[in-house]
Amino acid sequence: MKPAKFCFVIHPLSIDDVARYEPGAKGKGAPMIRKIMEWMPAWAAVHVTGVRAPDGRETEGWFVSAPLLPEQMLDFPREDVYNRILRAIEIGVELGAEIAGLGAFTGVVGDGGVTINERSPIPVTTGNSLTISAGIQSLWRGAHEMGVQANEATAVVVGATGSIGAACVRLIAPRVKRLILVARNQTRLRKHFESVRGELPCEASATVDISAAVREAQLILTATSSTQDVIEPEDLQPGAVVCELSLPHDVSRRVATERPDVLVTEGGNMLVPGTPRFERVREPGTDFDLNLPPRTALACMSETMVLALENRLEPYTLGRGIELAKVIEIERLAAKCGFTLAGMRAFDAAITPEKIEATRRAADERRKAIV
Ligand SMILES: NC(=O)c1ccc[n+]([C@@H]2O[C@H](COP(=O)([O-])OP(=O)(O)OC[C@H]3O[C@@H](n4cnc5c(N)ncnc54)[C@H](OP(=O)(O)O)[C@@H]3O)[C@@H](O)[C@H]2O)c1
Repeated sequence: MKPAKFCFVIHPLSIDDVARYEPGAKGKGAPMIRKIMEWMPAWAAVHVTGVRAPDGRETEGWFVSAPLLPEQMLDFPREDVYNRILRAIEIGVELGAEIAGLGAFTGVVGDGGVTINERSPIPVTTGNSLTISAGIQSLWRGAHEMGVQANEATAVVVGATGSIGAACVRLIAPRVKRLILVARNQTRLRKHFESVRGELPCEASATVDISAAVREAQLILTATSSTQDVIEPEDLQPGAVVCELSLPHDVSRRVATERPDVLVTEGGNMLVPGTPRFERVREPGTDFDLNLPPRTALACMSETMVLALENRLEPYTLGRGIELAKVIEIERLAAKCGFTLAGMRAFDAAITPEKIEATRRAADERRKAIV
């Protein structure tokens, strides 16, 4: 069957990020940018071409911007935000898209895509199934590189009640000694923990005290909808591995400078098969800066592309109770279509073998200094 076409809703993750979308915004003050975004309609930002599976199947699509900042997505009236996201999907449909993905906070707001899908003319996915798969693979890769024995380790999932975090809890638990679930809302966390603790085959606990949990852990995965940093350098153990799925980032940039003994890795980046091109719609011939290395896309974008290549025109991932069977299936389909986990990266730079070696050495030194 012929591959379908896709659209994917994107939005700027910070004030600085706005200039990546609109270079003309550089130098304008934050209050003015926020104000402009209040009335700015959705627009087709990127034409994606050259996404080609090893068997020659090829898809194209569009990234359509619903130009709101993360905090605006959370603070504006829900219906207003839904309407902006739906308008972005309509633009995708006008261009030929048959399936839509929801990027970053467009998949977080409200009920995690359920209402958007009900109102959308084409099926919608959050892309969270492939994000979970990529995040878990990234966490184990980081543990391997840093020599952390998972079965003797304490792991923390921050955002453990969320769509991504709850599935990560179930996938991490069988491989670690101890798991700590962390979220912000105590009541929701307690209820969630009570409902899952019986299924978790390791020692498990839950807390809203992020700092205390992180101080216990060798392995940390973050998947929060926080617009502030949640992981601070002071809390991290020497040699800890932090897999960051959250967008915007929620690991303090201070970790990059203050903790050379800790491995932070962005967990949701994938290499796209073929000769992918991300071309600006308004300035044809110019590439859109995804803030990622060449040929690389986020796992949620990749899930949307895989569904298009496979002609699976269905609301694949929605809401907060993600089935692990879907995570396993999309991982298989992504591999079949030629998508692979991208190289390790954090704080806007690649993590080279030399960098890992230096991180391990710094961790050994810090451990010795503590004893
Ligand atoms: N890398 C990628 O390819 C990719 C793909 C998709 C999504 N994402 C990102 O992944 C993140 C999670 O998405 P999701 O769909 O799982 O969101 P979600 O279902 O809304 O879950 C968010 C979780 O974060 C927790 N949280 C929010 N603020 C917190 C804070 N300050 N401290 C601790 N926990 C906090 C929430 O707990 P409470 O309910 O207690 O607040 C909840 O457990 C988002 O940042 C999203 O943009 C990344």
